[in-house]
Amino acid sequence: MMPIGPLMIEHRVIERMIEVMRQKVQQWEREEKADTSFIETAVDFIRTYADRCHHGKEEDILFRDLGNKPISKDHKRIIEELMADHRKGRNLTGRLVEANVAYRNGDDKAVFTIFDCVKSLVEFYPKHIEKEDRHFFIPIMEYFSKEEKDAMLREEYDFDRDLIHEVYRQYVTTAEEGVGRSGN
Ligand SMILES: [Fe+2]
Ligand SMILES: [Fe+2]
Repeated sequence: MMPIGPLMIEHRVIERMIEVMRQKVQQWEREEKADTSFIETAVDFIRTYADRCHHGKEEDILFRDLGNKPISKDHKRIIEELMADHRKGRNLTGRLVEANVAYRNGDDKAVFTIFDCVKSLVEFYPKHIEKEDRHFFIPIMEYFSKEEKDAMLREEYDFDRDLIHEVYRQYVTTAEEGVGRSGN
């Protein structure tokens, strides 16, 4: 498999969650309310899977190695756009978290910020994925030898393997801090 293989498979998973979010926000707008626990699940998915696991491999392996190649001006511009998209996703998710906390704490108006953030994410992610799948991933593979592509794929598998441990170690650390704070 080429190193873009796992990334394209992950795109299909992200699209499925985005489609659920699209349907949820349509329903919430009709009812003028939002499901805070679903938002927590969606935020965890976006932060852990879409951002750390997926964008992490794109930025820390694929884009990093492209940085050592004599890539075209067009490809350089697309990398910058893709990185800007990743930052936009992080900002929107951060705003969504804040609005969700405010809404859960009784700020009814925060529901409109929730709608805005979810609708922006639902708009933006499919376009980002299409840009990568259709205009970037396949052509940039030309810059790499078979050995370089194999090495990237191995590094992606290592990245995934390490991430699951990092994520759950962090869950434990957060849980320990919670116990410390409450004094129990
Ligand atoms: Fe990306
Ligand atoms: Fe991607």
